[in-house]
Amino acid sequence: MKIKIINGPNLNMLGIREPDVYGRQTYKDLVSFVENVCSELSVECSVYQSNHEGDIVTEIQNCYGEYDAIVINPAAYTHTSVAILDALKAVSVPTAEVHLSEVSEREDFRHFSYVSLYAEKVVTGKGFDGYKEAICYLVEKYK
Ligand code: DQA
Repeated sequence: MKIKIINGPNLNMLGIREPDVYGRQTYKDLVSFVENVCSELSVECSVYQSNHEGDIVTEIQNCYGEYDAIVINPAAYTHTSVAILDALKAVSVPTAEVHLSEVSEREDFRHFSYVSLYAEKVVTGKGFDGYKEAICYLVEKYK
C-alpha cells in the first residue's frame, strides 16, 4: 500500500510558528514521525509540503493511479480552497484530513473545511498523533 501525506502552507514552520498552538516540535520531527508510523505498518509513504495552492492541486492530481490513499493537512487552504476539494474529487483517492490543532475551538473562520466535504475521516486537535490515527484508519480500511 502507498500513502501520500500532503501538508499545506506554514506547516514547514512548525517549531517556530505559534508554539502555544502547534507545539515546539519541528516539521522535520513531523516527517520522521509519519515515516516511522508508515514503516511500522509496512506501508510505503511519501511526504510532501508546499506553501502554494496550485502545487498542492498538482501533487493531488499526480496521486491518480499511483497512491492508494491520501492524508492531507491543507492548513489555511482548508478553509478557502475549492481547487483542493475539486482535485481530491477528481482523483477519487480515499482521503483522511488532519489538523494538529482543535480547529473547532479556534476562530470562526477555521470552523468550515472544504476538504471535509470529500474526506472520509477527519482528525483534529491530536497533534502528531492525528496523523497516526488517519494513517491507521486508511491502512485498516484499504490495505
Ligand atoms: C491547521 C489549522 C488551520 O486552521 C491553520 O491555518 C493551519 C494549521 C492545523 O493543523 O491545526 O495552518 O491545519
